Amino acid sequence: MTQPWHGLINQYRTFLPVNEKTPVITLNEGNTPLLRAAHIREIIKEEVDVYFKFEGANPTGSFKDRGMTLAISKAAEENAKAVICASTGNTSASASAYSARAGISCIVIIPEGKIAMGKLAQAMIHGAMVIQIDGNFDEALNMVKEIVAKYPIVLVNSLNPFRIEGQKTAAFEVCDQLGRPPVYHALPVGNAGNITACWKGYKEYMAAGRTSGLPKMIGFQAAGAAPIVLGHPVAGPETIATAIRIGNPASWKGALAARDESGGMIGPVTDDEIIEAYKYIASKEGVFCEPASAASLAGVIKLSKQNYFRAGDTIVCTLTGHGLKDPDIALKVSSEPVRIKADLAALEDTLKGCCI
Ligand code: F0G
Repeated sequence: MTQPWHGLINQYRTFLPVNEKTPVITLNEGNTPLLRAAHIREIIKEEVDVYFKFEGANPTGSFKDRGMTLAISKAAEENAKAVICASTGNTSASASAYSARAGISCIVIIPEGKIAMGKLAQAMIHGAMVIQIDGNFDEALNMVKEIVAKYPIVLVNSLNPFRIEGQKTAAFEVCDQLGRPPVYHALPVGNAGNITACWKGYKEYMAAGRTSGLPKMIGFQAAGAAPIVLGHPVAGPETIATAIRIGNPASWKGALAARDESGGMIGPVTDDEIIEAYKYIASKEGVFCEPASAASLAGVIKLSKQNYFRAGDTIVCTLTGHGLKDPDIALKVSSEPVRIKADLAALEDTLKGCCI
């Protein structure tokens, strides 16, 4: 019988900065599905193998839980009374949940009107102090950095190195689930912590002899919020994918290192390309991710049109968050439900020419 899963600190303890005194604050995050795309040939001509690492299956519905289990466990080890983060929504949802479990106060600073409804609901119900600003994520992060410099509050944005340490475990899982590293690993890039973390994970797993070889890291930013692609900060980032609406990423250097050391690339995808991939993943693959997550596949589709890949390449796309977080967008890009009378004949009429 296989061992039951007790969260990623327990699973990958030897790779993580924990000791016997670290209280493990876990919601049994990690061990998320790696799903082989079943219909990819409909949109990508080359004989490539595409997999989705569905991070929406984490307890709060995003990859942030990987970093947060470690960041909050370490905060608890240090007897922190409060943690704080700036967020486009998922970090705040995750920080709120893990803090609640640890009995630590949590403060989240979010851009008003620019975070998905589900994420706001999560922070509220977990009992965080939710502060909305009339500014964007970059401004919120600057404010938070100043606060932690002045007061004994622990920062749990990915500037906190424990966040990156936890998030690197996604790369371990991909290698374990695939039996080898992929040729390419595609991710959406916002604050750039995750591409930094995954690259670190691949390198460490190889150094430990757990896997052979390294993937090329390919990252995608929304075209209206693409500072790394442009090579300079963007003052007014805009995209439908609010999770990655960021103009000055904290882990900019880490993303460049991941790109350059691995021989990968970081490119832009338009909102239309993101939505096309988002709809494809839900309607053809049966996976409901949030718009920002679909930037990974949108980028892969775009590169495939430029003959970037070769037959036989294995490509893992991280789907960073769950679609249920942002139901507004799903409704907006779908057609209206059919309305009929509560009457069998009306139902039969409607189904004629479709399935009966
Ligand atoms: N996808 C989703 C769903 C996200 O929430 C984020 C980041 C990213 C991708 C980008 O990851 O920042 O590591 O490059 N969300 C952060 C937040 C900024 O506050 O929830 P990254």
